[in-house]
Parts: sequence; structure tokens; C-alpha cells
Amino acid sequence: MARTPIVAGNWKMNLGRTPARELLTALKGSLAGIEGVDMAVCPPAPWIGDAADILAGTKIGVGVQNVYWEAQGAFTGEQSAAQLAGVVDYVIIGHSERRHVFGETDEATNKKLKVVLELGMQPMLAVGELREEREGGRTNDVLRRQLLAAFDDISSLPEGFIVAYEPVWAIGTGLTATPEIAQMTCADIRAIVAERYDEDTAANCRIQYGGSANAENAASLMGQPDIDGLLVGGAALQAESFTKICQAAAATR
Ligand code: 13P
Repeated sequence: MARTPIVAGNWKMNLGRTPARELLTALKGSLAGIEGVDMAVCPPAPWIGDAADILAGTKIGVGVQNVYWEAQGAFTGEQSAAQLAGVVDYVIIGHSERRHVFGETDEATNKKLKVVLELGMQPMLAVGELREEREGGRTNDVLRRQLLAAFDDISSLPEGFIVAYEPVWAIGTGLTATPEIAQMTCADIRAIVAERYDEDTAANCRIQYGGSANAENAASLMGQPDIDGLLVGGAALQAESFTKICQAAAATR
């Protein structure tokens, strides 16, 4: 069965409220005619309500960049998965900036993944190696550790489960992985999912590439057989480039 591509924009901690609302309004128009690709935006948490309102009734999903696993309580500064269920469709889990800037552990990604799956939202589980890990030939070990830890005590994955492969050395650097490197690594990720679950789960799993993806390289990345979508940072902050990326993703399937 063909996998529906999924392109998501991770806005990170960018854009004030007015430009965020302007971008959402522009995307509502520019993405309207695009078929055959799932599309989502992940604005900063304060603008999630604006995104949900502006994009209501469109095919553009809303995602959040992080959640906490406890449902409620004295956790100042956190937002719970339970609070976001019914408001957002997608949740980015384990982004490298969470892991490397905020010290998020593999164990935390597992707790987040469990609760997000239980609540019926779609996780985008981000994994990826540091430059020195790739140069030291440890990419596969790192991805295996991150994936198996995240999947701990999770007996099955829903159809279309999303893994985002984001090599840390390619994020925000302009150094995109070549389509060949991205393809090879996404195929390795699929093999790890097959080993942990089964061939069907792996074949249904959607693997995004992220790391300096843009309007120019989207088509060649999306042309790779194991790349099923893109998780876009900088190029998601302008309607024109994000729209071109979504169009390229739609055209390659
Ligand atoms: P850039 O596209 O800015 O490299 O960011 C990628 C990313 O981290 C998306 O989650």
C-alpha cells in the first residue's frame, strides 16, 4: 500500500503573533489545492490556538513541538499531551534541540510517545546523529538506540506512524544530507522498525527527512524510495517556500 507523504513545518521558537497569523492565513490559501500529501504546521505553543482557529476546516494539520507526559499538575512551564488532545493533530517528540539543548533523555521520549499514542494524536518521532557520530561510523548504533528506547514497552505502532530522520549536522546549517545519504539512512531506520516490530509495520511507517530541506532540494529528497516526507525548519517560515515544498512532495508520488 502506498504511503501518503507527510510534510510538516517546524517553526521552532520563531515568529511573533502577528506574523504567525499572517503566515497561517497565507498557507490556508496557498496550500488549498494540493492533493495527495498530508501537510501540517507546528507553530510555537502560544500560537497553537490561532493555528487551530485559522486552519479549521482546511486539510492542514496543526502540530505542537513538545509535550509533557503527566496530564496536569504542578509542572510550571509545561503543556500536557492531555491538554493538547483534540486541539492538535501532531506532536513532535524527541527533536534534536530538545535532546541536545534541553537535555531530553531517551526515557523521556518514550514516556511522551506512549501518552501521545494513547491519546490518539500522531507523533513525529525525531531521531538523528551528531556530526562526530556520523564521522565515527556510529550513525546506525545511535539511531537504533534512540528508536528502541522510544519504542520501549510499546507493543505496536499505528499505521502511518511517522519517524523524522534529522541528522543534527544538517539542521539549520544549510548542509543538507545528500539524497543518497538520506535515503540510505531512512532505509536503515525502516529496517530497525522491521526488526523491532514486523515488515508490515515498517512498510507502513512514514519516514521524513529533516535538515536544511528547502524548495530547491525537496524534489530530489522526495524522489528517494524510503523518504516519505519532510520536516522543514527555516524554509517553513515563508508561505512561498513551504508551499513549493508541499507541491514538490505531492508531485513525486
Ligand atoms: P532546518 O530546516 O532549519 O534545517 O530545520 C530542520 C528541523 O530541525 C526541523 O525540525
